[in-house]
Amino acid sequence: MATRQRRERYIQLGKAGLFLLGLGPLLGLIFGVLNERLGANPAEYLIRSFGDWTMRALWLTLAITPLRHLLGWPWLVRYRRQLGLFAFFYASCHLLSYAVFDMDLDAAEMAHDIVKRPFIWVGFSAWLLMVPLALTSFNAAIRRLGSQNWQRLHRLVYAIAVMALLHFFWMRAAKHNFNEVAVYGLVLLALFGWRAHHR
Ligand code: HEM
Repeated sequence: MATRQRRERYIQLGKAGLFLLGLGPLLGLIFGVLNERLGANPAEYLIRSFGDWTMRALWLTLAITPLRHLLGWPWLVRYRRQLGLFAFFYASCHLLSYAVFDMDLDAAEMAHDIVKRPFIWVGFSAWLLMVPLALTSFNAAIRRLGSQNWQRLHRLVYAIAVMALLHFFWMRAAKHNFNEVAVYGLVLLALFGWRAHHR
């Protein structure tokens, strides 16, 4: 088999593996619900876990470009879209679990809560900004938009990351617990630093 074909096959296998890996947290949480293993407050556990997995997937998505340059692995870029879509998927699970468990699917109550609590407002805005990115993450959309417009639109991911960090910071500020927020903040700073340096 030609080298290119073989490489393509490995990438497709990697994509299938990443897909299964990405579903792992969801399956783990479903297992936890079914076996009552999510602690005293399963709803809170679910909302928070989905939030955490959104952050992880988003930060990994942002790290792809620096990593492919630093490691000299150009093929890493082939996994970026999938990671970004997982970030959107977990953000949507996070939003949905908040709407179901905290708000009883009451749209008016939810709208009131979103404007009343700034950290929710910032989180919701970050999710809203993710929607056009998810909708334009397919080849047909990239062709229709044109590569430059598509790239410009997808730079929104940096604003989304800052808003996600602010949302997390604000939520943890109430508990004076900043350790994880600081780690995410430092990684984001390093990613921004790398980008600025390589512009
Ligand atoms: C990019 C989008 C978002 C990200 C990355 C994100 C991330 C997070 C993280 C990391 C946490 C804390 C988890 C922990 O303490 O372990 C959290 C908590 C929370 N988020 Fe988000 N979030 C996003 C969007 C939203 C949206 C759209 C809503 C609802 C409209 C929302 C509502 C909440 C609530 C209610 C909590 C925690 C409540 C609590 O237990 O006190 N988030 N989020």
